[in-house]
Amino acid sequence: MNFGILGTGTVGTTLASALVHHGNQVMVGGRTAEKAEIWADKLGEGAHAGNFAEAAAFGEIVVLAVQGAQALAVLDLADGNRTLSGKVLIDVTNPLDFSQGFPPILIEGMVNTSSLGEQVQAHLSAARVVKCFNTMSAAIMVAPQLLAEPTDIFVAGDDSAAKGRVVELLRTLGWQSPIDLGGISSARATESWLLFWTRLMPAMGGAMFNLKLVRAS
Ligand SMILES: NC(=O)c1ccc[n+]([C@@H]2O[C@H](COP(=O)([O-])OP(=O)(O)OC[C@H]3O[C@@H](n4cnc5c(N)ncnc54)[C@H](OP(=O)(O)O)[C@@H]3O)[C@@H](O)[C@H]2O)c1
Repeated sequence: MNFGILGTGTVGTTLASALVHHGNQVMVGGRTAEKAEIWADKLGEGAHAGNFAEAAAFGEIVVLAVQGAQALAVLDLADGNRTLSGKVLIDVTNPLDFSQGFPPILIEGMVNTSSLGEQVQAHLSAARVVKCFNTMSAAIMVAPQLLAEPTDIFVAGDDSAAKGRVVELLRTLGWQSPIDLGGISSARATESWLLFWTRLMPAMGGAMFNLKLVRAS
């Protein structure tokens, strides 16, 4: 399958590399193709570089993995020709504001009564947005077996068929039982987890941990 990845950072290139290793054609895009070209040259066959618009047009499924504060502006650059209409758009972003240092706060207006996931869906009403992957560090997204025990991952979105496509993808990456949190408004919850996650990170001695939910037996 063809994937478009909007984002040349750790998340974008980590997801992109894993998707190439699983036999997909993947285009990573940034404001320009320059950083994506460095990634594509390292990966070789199956890896392509472009700008945001080219990556959006290339993907049958598209991943949004850019700085939270820039996410809506990037969608404007990516979707100028409405190439995202009808496509599954996996939103990995978090609305983090580091202006007051670490730990970050969540961007005013994107928390509690709203979320970045909802704003992405409202901004691109013709795309089928699924919030996923944003609750853990990039290395774990594509290799859950790096952790000592199975852990949990979540999907949230208004389109059930789109969530089904993402769950299928998650299974190929090793996620056995993704948890469906319902509509895109559940992004409020998974994004707010970052307030806790960023405080857990120093306590856990790094980023290689994740949530594991345990039910009554
Ligand atoms: N790092 C993680 O492990 C992790 C885990 C979970 C969720 N997340 C979330 O995933 C997203 C990506 O994180 P990341 O760490 O991979 O990378 P990042 O540094 O947050 O974002 C890099 C991307 O943002 C774009 N960008 C930066 N400033 C921009 C601007 N002014 N206008 C347009 N685009 C701009 C960059 O474009 P260029 O390519 O043009 O430079 C690049 O593609 C974030 O929302 C983050 O909160 C990260």
